[in-house]
Amino acid sequence: MNYKIIDMKVFGDERGKLVSLEGGMNCPFEIKRVYYIFDTMPDQERGKHAHKELEQIIVAIDGACQFVLDDGKTREEVWLNRPDKGLYIGKNMWREMRHFSYGCKLMILASTHYDEKEYIRDYDVFLNEVNGK
Ligand code: TYD
Repeated sequence: MNYKIIDMKVFGDERGKLVSLEGGMNCPFEIKRVYYIFDTMPDQERGKHAHKELEQIIVAIDGACQFVLDDGKTREEVWLNRPDKGLYIGKNMWREMRHFSYGCKLMILASTHYDEKEYIRDYDVFLNEVNGK
């Protein structure tokens, strides 16, 4: 499975806490794009796609949601619920996001600019790509 949880160092003192992500250091790729998801709804699902090239780190800055990660052979569920844990997802991984808490905010660091052409949005096409059928 081409994903992992990254534990981020927290700089904390009486003023609060801070986490830093740097391209090529604790973020394994150079960061080309940052986007964020907010005003999420518990009964709504997102994602349901894979990427041919894109690598990402996703952080639940606030709240929680569940990721389903699928490499075409197995499926695993991962909860993102801490601002000091990053979910790294590499290439060719199908992902679905669900069970958003009210007001969940996700920040996503991406290795490429947005390019709809490198998305795989059809699950059967994804299975064909990764399993070579
Ligand atoms: P979508 O891929 O459906 O989001 P999710 O991965 O959460 O399911 O993207 C929603 C819309 O936003 C879609 O019209 C594409 C657009 N979009 C951009 O224009 N730029 C971006 O960087 C991203 C991630 C999405």
